[in-house]
Amino acid sequence: MAVSRKLAAAQLSVAPARLIQRGQRLPSSTCSFKKGTQAQACVFIIMTELTPVNQTTVHPALPDAQTVTSVKHWTDKLFSFRVTRPASLRFRSGEFVMIGLMGAPDPKTGKQKPLMRAYSIASPAWDDELEFYSIKVQDGPLTSRLQHIQPGDQIILRPKPVGTLVHDALLPGKRLWFFATGTGFAPFASLLREPETYEKFDEIIMTHTCRDVAELEYGRTLIEDLKSDEMMQELIGADHLAKIRYYPTTTREQSGRMGRITTLLQDGTVFADLGIDTINKDTDRGMVCGSLDFNKDMMRTLEGFGLQEGANSDPQHFVVEKAFVG
Ligand SMILES: Cc1cc2nc3c(=O)[nH]c(=O)nc-3n(C[C@H](O)[C@H](O)[C@H](O)COP(=O)(O)OP(=O)(O)OC[C@H]3O[C@@H](n4cnc5c(N)ncnc54)[C@H](O)[C@@H]3O)c2cc1C
Ligand SMILES: NC(=O)c1ccc[n+]([C@@H]2O[C@H](COP(=O)([O-])OP(=O)(O)OC[C@H]3O[C@@H](n4cnc5c(N)ncnc54)[C@H](OP(=O)(O)O)[C@@H]3O)[C@@H](O)[C@H]2O)c1
Repeated sequence: MAVSRKLAAAQLSVAPARLIQRGQRLPSSTCSFKKGTQAQACVFIIMTELTPVNQTTVHPALPDAQTVTSVKHWTDKLFSFRVTRPASLRFRSGEFVMIGLMGAPDPKTGKQKPLMRAYSIASPAWDDELEFYSIKVQDGPLTSRLQHIQPGDQIILRPKPVGTLVHDALLPGKRLWFFATGTGFAPFASLLREPETYEKFDEIIMTHTCRDVAELEYGRTLIEDLKSDEMMQELIGADHLAKIRYYPTTTREQSGRMGRITTLLQDGTVFADLGIDTINKDTDRGMVCGSLDFNKDMMRTLEGFGLQEGANSDPQHFVVEKAFVG
């Protein structure tokens, strides 16, 4: 994907590939975007070049089907994958959608029902594909099967994004904290690649707590790539990317920083490490994503610093979302 095409997509908030019909893919060499009106001209080229419809287009067998474009396994419990993006899908970085696979046929009726689960979109709103970061639950109804997907396979994706981990749900501030455990990193993988994050805040602190070092790898690599990637530097700006401060911790395996982030906030270790006085409701904003217990403990911790929970309808100092139930 050419840098210029992604930039134009970000500016127009319309990815060029979304203008073509479902099932059709745009060859990345079709056009080269610059900005503004040139992008509109290119939209015209795309539509012209793709008419008439390619007779060989395969129509998806599944309802709301999207095609897997890549898969990466990070550990025996974690993987990420990318899929095509539905033409109709608009979302705010940080939101989640329902994705799934067709369930096994009912032994009595033979009918199949979709097996759907909530998933944070890990890619930013401007991307022309969708990325997901997933757990592999050994006996999990969905992920025991989802973990075996390959490029070219289809998944079901309901294009109705929702969620509270969005910029609209926070009051303006100076410092934005992202607090994640495990796959709770996913919405922040989206927000860390969202230009608005850097336009609205002077400093972004990404904390990620996992049991083992290997479970940090998706997030660590993403941040490293973000800072070194030429396209990201052009899209977000090197000075903006320099605002990221990454604070990974582990709890069960020895690493550079050990301990639950809640404990490290309460005993002041985080502030000493980062050279920050404290968390203050006038300047600090937070987004939290992890297990129910983690979310509850983080809420108490942030409320202890005087921050109030917000929502889309009532922006405040911090917002919370479940990374999973149970
Ligand atoms: C708002 C929301 C967003 C979510 N976003 C993601 C996401 O981006 N990535 C993702 O992997 N999951 C996410 N989940 C969890 C997801 O919906 C499923 O639970 C997960 O895919 C497992 O599905 P399953 O059918 O295999 O097992 P389930 O029957 O759904 O879960 C079985 C058990 O596995 C454990 N579990 C489930 N999900 C996780 C997880 N993510 N991390 C650790 N333990 C887990 C729980 O103990 C759960 O009771 C999200 C859940 C919610 C509510
Ligand atoms: N990931 C694994 O290797 C593994 C192995 C066996 C079973 N499981 C099961 O899979 C499920 C999810 O495991 P997971 O590791 O992805 O998620 P998790 O159990 O929520 O733990 C993720 C990280 O968050 C920390 N954490 C948990 N609760 C917290 C709280 N209230 N406050 C602050 N930090 C908190 C954990 O620290 P602590 O280590 O201190 O809890 C861990 O570092 C769990 O039900 C677990 O029993 C996972």
